[in-house]
Amino acid sequence: MPDKQRIHTPSRRTLLKGASAMAAFAALGRFPSPAIAQGAPIKIGFMLPYSGTYTKLGKYIDHAFRLNVEEKGGKLGGRTVEYVQVDDESEPAKATDNMNRLVAREKVDVVVGTVHSGVAMGMVKVARDANALLIIPNAGANAATGPMCAPNIWRTSFSNWQPGFPMGKVMYDAGHRNVMTITWRYAAGQEMVDAFKENYTKAGGNIVEELYVPFPQVEFQALLTRIATQKPDAVFSFFAGGGAVKFVKDYAAAGLKNSIPLYGTGFLTDGTLEAQGADAEGIKTTLHYADDLDNPANKAFIAAFKKKTGEDADVYAVQGYDTATLLDIGLKAAGGDVAAREKMYAAMQAAKIDSPRGPISFSKANNVVQNVYLREVKGGMNRYVSIAHAALADPARGCKLAS
Ligand code: BEZ
Repeated sequence: MPDKQRIHTPSRRTLLKGASAMAAFAALGRFPSPAIAQGAPIKIGFMLPYSGTYTKLGKYIDHAFRLNVEEKGGKLGGRTVEYVQVDDESEPAKATDNMNRLVAREKVDVVVGTVHSGVAMGMVKVARDANALLIIPNAGANAATGPMCAPNIWRTSFSNWQPGFPMGKVMYDAGHRNVMTITWRYAAGQEMVDAFKENYTKAGGNIVEELYVPFPQVEFQALLTRIATQKPDAVFSFFAGGGAVKFVKDYAAAGLKNSIPLYGTGFLTDGTLEAQGADAEGIKTTLHYADDLDNPANKAFIAAFKKKTGEDADVYAVQGYDTATLLDIGLKAAGGDVAAREKMYAAMQAAKIDSPRGPISFSKANNVVQNVYLREVKGGMNRYVSIAHAALADPARGCKLAS
């Protein structure tokens, strides 16, 4: 995967188009920024994992964002689009350099990224310092729309709190009173477990033990033996991508699947089912998407994604697709001018999107508000069971924009 794409040189035709756009703005009594006047494309920097355990997640976000732009005639907010890609390798230590490269060297108009919460926190710091527009299409780090929230930082995916919290009640209501948790030891795993625990213990449930594996390791054997010894009523977990495939298969191979029910946030079985096969059947998870959501936007999106990529869409693709929709709404309101930040942000705040995941809107902290669904794996699909929590907003603890 190349980490950088073409640098666009405007043609005579785009320069002429730019001249007429300039005349239109002048008639409104306001001159656009030089880039708009010259018909320059909007420059989007993708900072995503194109290698490692989250490769597929990054690629699906990228593919679906581009699909959305193609459906808009190759434009966002009326401007053609140029992409620059950086592989962040899900490596927090490289996040600042990679982000600086996009913002300071490439001078992108918008950064879209990333998947890994630890990398996202590095990006948020740079975005705040440089006042760069950042839209997060996956990483759930609570702080990004909590204490580190800012007018230029948006999230179209979820906070780690959102998919974890509803599962506390789901598992309690299923009659499980003594539960173990297992996840990778980094922000996403810790925050999803914490959100689950918050709701589960409030209901009266008891946490027997919390187990952790360093990210992105997949040596689960010793911890699976521990679960077999402790015999909890059920297990709550967060893993995603390649790690989720391995965990679900190892859980079944350890003979636990039929004795200790496995639950999790939906990342455990999203985009992974082909590889997990029968070992995933029956697993219940909570997430803001289900494959069979019965709405026109989902049907159209699944078909269009299949046509473009030959693959089945998943939650990561939906998030990438919605990121382009949100940016288009903001850019349109600003006449394509990313410098007209107030107009952009006002329109993004007011956005109501008919997403493939159902209706979404945005909180004062710039985080998505959405339904969280209970799903069950049946016949190789994450099938809708019920709405576990309707229109769930992250509490945005510590965010000054939200108070
Ligand atoms: C995260 O690091 O925030 C994350 C990664 C994959 C799936 C969900 C969350």
